[in-house]
Amino acid sequence: MWRFATLAAILLLSLPSHADSTSLRNSNGRKPLSKPAEFLAAHNKIRAIHNLTNLSWNRVLARYARRWANRRLDDCKNLEHSPNSPFGENLFWGLRDHWNASEVVEYWGGEMRNYDPITNECLNNSVCGHYTQIVWNTTQCVGCVHALCNNNEGHLFVCSYDPPGNIYFQGPFGGHFSKCIVYPPSSNESSSTLSENLHDPTGIAAVITSSTRDFISGTMGHPAYETPPKFNLNNIV
Ligand SMILES: *[C@@H]1O[C@H](CO)[C@@H](O)[C@H](O)[C@H]1NC(C)=O
Ligand SMILES: *[C@@H]1O[C@H](CO)[C@@H](O)[C@H](O)[C@H]1NC(C)=O
Ligand SMILES: *[C@@H]1O[C@H](CO)[C@@H](O)[C@H](O)[C@H]1NC(C)=O
Ligand SMILES: *[C@@H]1O[C@H](CO)[C@@H](O)[C@H](O)[C@H]1NC(C)=O
Ligand SMILES: *[C@@H]1O[C@H](CO)[C@@H](O)[C@H](O)[C@H]1NC(C)=O
Ligand SMILES: *[C@@H]1O[C@H](CO)[C@@H](O)[C@H](O)[C@H]1NC(C)=O
Repeated sequence: MWRFATLAAILLLSLPSHADSTSLRNSNGRKPLSKPAEFLAAHNKIRAIHNLTNLSWNRVLARYARRWANRRLDDCKNLEHSPNSPFGENLFWGLRDHWNASEVVEYWGGEMRNYDPITNECLNNSVCGHYTQIVWNTTQCVGCVHALCNNNEGHLFVCSYDPPGNIYFQGPFGGHFSKCIVYPPSSNESSSTLSENLHDPTGIAAVITSSTRDFISGTMGHPAYETPPKFNLNNIV
């Protein structure tokens, strides 16, 4: 009886670490990739600042994000957005291993200090569109992925949002403005993007890394007409 209990205890104690070193860790031994709950909690912490409804996790959005990430793993740093996405999209590339979902979403949320709600623009040519997408009050669902880039080229994070935020000339908390967070494209493309300039470290990013910029993020804008018909997630299987 005693031996059985001991054996059971040993099994119980050893199972988590066994699982940790096989299924959760990556093949190269680095720390586990981020979980949905971690992405979600980090988002809702930022939305709570403004008393907004919680986002819910959506598996179709998560799959969309994962599929796009998988196509970018050879070339993470260029932070290319998925073309004509019906969803909002926040991207992040970070070279170092300390980046995880909480860190990345908190970094995006930190752009709050760059957003001017009176004029609806990012201050001093900084980027604030990741933050405004997170707190866009009509956005209801999110799905993200944390992927490892090929050739040890760091970590790629992709979050998709539905309905999309950063609607041209609108603000995250409603209203119409003459300025916008992400400006419409000059051609007739369906969306335009805003990225930090890798070669010109400005704003809060410069505080986080010292000399070289080893992380960067990008976000996306959408025309207003994409907003009303909420994309029917059940139609994508
Ligand atoms: C937050 O939302 C709740 C429920 O809608 C409301 O009762 C409360 O007054 C709001 N608080 C603020 C600070 O807006
Ligand atoms: C959002 O979710 C958190 C954690 O589950 C919960 O504590 C909080 O009350 C929720 N907020 C709203 C506005 O529903
Ligand atoms: C994410 O990274 C931060 C900083 O390294 C760490 O404090 C936190 O525990 C990490 N979160 C998870 C879920 O591993
Ligand atoms: C924006 O730039 C001006 C002039 O360079 C500076 O005084 C101000 O503090 C900056 N604001 C922010 C939020 O960085
Ligand atoms: C978003 O904010 C605007 C302006 O306050 C409000 O009219 C609208 O009802 C809000 N929408 C949601 C879904 O919270
Ligand atoms: C606008 O879109 C049409 C149809 O897709 C294309 O033929 C045209 O070249 C585009 N115009 C510009 C300025 O990109």
